Amino acid sequence: MKKILIIGGSSGVGEAITKKVAANNNVIATYRNNFKENTENIEYKEFDVIENQPEKLEIDGPLDSIIYCPGTINLKPFHRFSEQELIDDFKINVIGFLKILSFFKKNLLNRENASVILFSSIAAQKGIPFHTQVACSKGAIEALTRTLAAELAPKIRVNAIAPSLLNTPLSTKFLNTEKKIDANKDRHPMKEIGDPNDIATLVDFLINNQAKWMTGQVINFDGGLSTL
Ligand SMILES: NC(=O)c1ccc[n+]([C@@H]2O[C@H](COP(=O)([O-])OP(=O)(O)OC[C@H]3O[C@@H](n4cnc5c(N)ncnc54)[C@H](OP(=O)(O)O)[C@@H]3O)[C@@H](O)[C@H]2O)c1
Repeated sequence: MKKILIIGGSSGVGEAITKKVAANNNVIATYRNNFKENTENIEYKEFDVIENQPEKLEIDGPLDSIIYCPGTINLKPFHRFSEQELIDDFKINVIGFLKILSFFKKNLLNRENASVILFSSIAAQKGIPFHTQVACSKGAIEALTRTLAAELAPKIRVNAIAPSLLNTPLSTKFLNTEKKIDANKDRHPMKEIGDPNDIATLVDFLINNQAKWMTGQVINFDGGLSTL
């Protein structure tokens, strides 16, 4: 069985991925606020990418994949973001990830078909008003996906998924009335909100050997919104 580290495995997409990949792999999943009990194949550890250092996770052995889920959706006109808000957002999305990968790169090396999965957003490639903060951080994630894929090939594959609106706790404020749900479904060509369980299936493919020739890719997962 492979050993998979999931940062942010306690909610939303990370929770769905944790459950999916634990069917066939040993998983170490982290939580920040949403405490989770260990189950068969899943060991949970408390971890905050801003407050803590990766040593706290106490992982010594080899890892086959790292999946990094923490992210944010803070929307407002660009001039209303404070410098500190932009820095905090960048820390969760980008610096936190680099901290984790810098520390655990040694655990991934020398594994057959090691891989890293990141999360971008539709707002990195498509211009959407009031998405300055998301665009800054996720634009960096997409650039990092290609840079790191080049730097780490052929030992470690690096890919990202760029979703549009998903049904998770992070997006509750956009989906808390029937009117908002209908409007958000309607603006997607496929007329639905994204399902975290579908992303989990995509991640399960990306970490497996059938994806061994895929690296440096950003995969749009957005009901057709980015291209149609
Ligand atoms: N939801 C969407 O519509 C959407 C759209 C585009 C892109 N995305 C991206 O997809 C990814 C997953 O989103 P999601 O909707 O699943 O988010 P979510 O429901 O908020 O889940 C985020 C996960 O990361 C953990 N986390 C948050 N901040 C953390 C920190 N500082 N340190 C350590 N762990 C932290 C959370 O832990 P606790 O819950 O235990 O605190 C949780 O397990 C994010 O990168 C997001 O930007 C989401």
